[in-house]
Amino acid sequence: MCGIIGYIGERKAQEVLLRGLTRLEYRGYDSAGVAVIDGDRINMLKRQGKLRILINELSTKPIAGTVGVGHTRWATHGVPNDINAHPHLDCTGKIAVVHNGIIENYLELKKNLIREGHKFVSETDTEIIPHLVEKFYKGNLEKAVTSALKLLKGSYAIAVIHKDEPDKVVGARCDSPLIVGVGKGENFLASDVPAVLDYTKEVIYLENHEVITITKKGVSVKDLSGRAINKKPCPISWDISQAEKCGHQHFMLKEISEQGDVLKKILEERLLKGKVSFEELKIKENDFKRFKKIAIVACGTAYHAGMTGKYMLEEYVKIPCWVDTSSEFRYRDPMVDRDTLTIIVSQSGETADSLAALREAKKRGAKTLGICNVLGSSIARESDGVIYTHAGPEIAVASTKAYTAQLAIFYLLTIYLAALRKSVPAPKVRALVREFKKVPDLMNDLIFEYRSDYNIIAAYAQEFKRYYFEKHNKSYFLYLARNINYPNAMEGALKLKEISYISAEGYPAGEMKHGPIALIDENPWVVCIAVKSKTYDKMLSNIQEIKARGGIIIAIVTEGDREILHNNINYVIEIPKINELFSPLLVVIPLQLLAYYVAREFGYDIDQPRNLAKSVTVE
Ligand code: AGP
Repeated sequence: MCGIIGYIGERKAQEVLLRGLTRLEYRGYDSAGVAVIDGDRINMLKRQGKLRILINELSTKPIAGTVGVGHTRWATHGVPNDINAHPHLDCTGKIAVVHNGIIENYLELKKNLIREGHKFVSETDTEIIPHLVEKFYKGNLEKAVTSALKLLKGSYAIAVIHKDEPDKVVGARCDSPLIVGVGKGENFLASDVPAVLDYTKEVIYLENHEVITITKKGVSVKDLSGRAINKKPCPISWDISQAEKCGHQHFMLKEISEQGDVLKKILEERLLKGKVSFEELKIKENDFKRFKKIAIVACGTAYHAGMTGKYMLEEYVKIPCWVDTSSEFRYRDPMVDRDTLTIIVSQSGETADSLAALREAKKRGAKTLGICNVLGSSIARESDGVIYTHAGPEIAVASTKAYTAQLAIFYLLTIYLAALRKSVPAPKVRALVREFKKVPDLMNDLIFEYRSDYNIIAAYAQEFKRYYFEKHNKSYFLYLARNINYPNAMEGALKLKEISYISAEGYPAGEMKHGPIALIDENPWVVCIAVKSKTYDKMLSNIQEIKARGGIIIAIVTEGDREILHNNINYVIEIPKINELFSPLLVVIPLQLLAYYVAREFGYDIDQPRNLAKSVTVE
């Protein structure tokens, strides 16, 4: 996934483009570049590496001009280097293009263009776009871009400038996000809202196969046949400070810290007098009464949220529920039909596999419900109904507050469906609501306790680092849990590996004897989620089995539990007492912080870990 931006107005384009790219860097950060129309030429600079390399170079040799495009890259075709960085130019150097997505038929188009005499310099799929625009250009950039788009197969969000038409920027999208920032005497194109919020809060969300032309004066949108489309800007409710670190060392720590307040806001908005309200949801109550099964489809952290949702939906709504990773669901022959509620969970709402899974489910007649965080995202718009998590912008690649917000929506959906379908007695539903309302304050207390710089989780991370180097970099982590906290074991492992690059695996503790126990000597650090629950005694047995083989244990326990301390556990982290059903919301906090502090001990780029991007909009 990459970040693109376009600007036209009175400001110095370089300044606007670079500031926008810093807001988009979470989308990809292996190289970056800008191209600006300066009088009768296009000036371009692009550099491999983090955006700051480009910023530093431009600070000494700025590019003049008020119209331009910019790009921050997560490489798909072509290694990260200066040549493969965007923008890309046509043969004449008059056309510059930035692109997010994958052009699946680029090789065939490239061969034809080379046969027609076009010269290519990069290994990227993107470079065919400026050459196609050059081929079709007869004095009208919008028309030339439209003709080029008709030949493309795959996904794209693009912004294009031509030095002979310095009064406009042309953009278009298909399966990659593109929004318009509507300003006064200036307009913006960008992959995501944070890139324009320093200048405007009026945003237009573009749909697939819409071509947009922005000038200083205005915005025009057409379809591929050239028919005008009327689009109204919508106001953004949050401001740019929510997409800044606000004094935190990393976005990830800020977003971990926000979770209690995010949860409080979700309950205030959606739990009104004990009744659940999903005002944006367009699926009718009769449909919810009719469903015979639920499929939950997602990737990564969102998949773990779905796994947790399965436990609560089956226990309280009493209908079969299964969970699939999107990339498996879309290539299986999934048994979904009109009696299946298919829930697609996606923070970004742009994950390619999840979008494809959504379309597959719709093709099979299933009613689809998106649980998304980004307003107006593709999955949100294409689902039959959407429930927004309203977690605010999540900038760190490692998802934290979006995860607990997704869990919160699953709890609310469980309460909503249990009441609607009368699957459990009303008093039991009311008891759920009462217990759920305790969680935000407990979460804030927990975060406060473990947020100070030298808390025990940070100390455990220092211990691990010492041990890791003593073992000549050979140590790693195993996460074990049972029942509704098993998905949290997977999530804790994912958090650790994606930001500390240390091997980690989440496993249902009951599976220990079926293989993983062979791993146990004094090496893996084993995180055991052993809070009070119906499987607590079983977890104690697992802990004893691990200790008997010299394993090192970090146990997450219910505060006040003294019984567990008789098991010679190495490190203990307590969480407040809460009904087992809601414990995942609290258990995940120390798991997130453990990953954060370990990665910080190792000095890695926590917000922008290597090889990853915030949303995987390519397969
Ligand atoms: C989570 O920390 C990862 N960044 C990743 O697994 C992520 O959850 C996954 O790519 C799904 O993203 P989505 O929720 O935007 O679809």
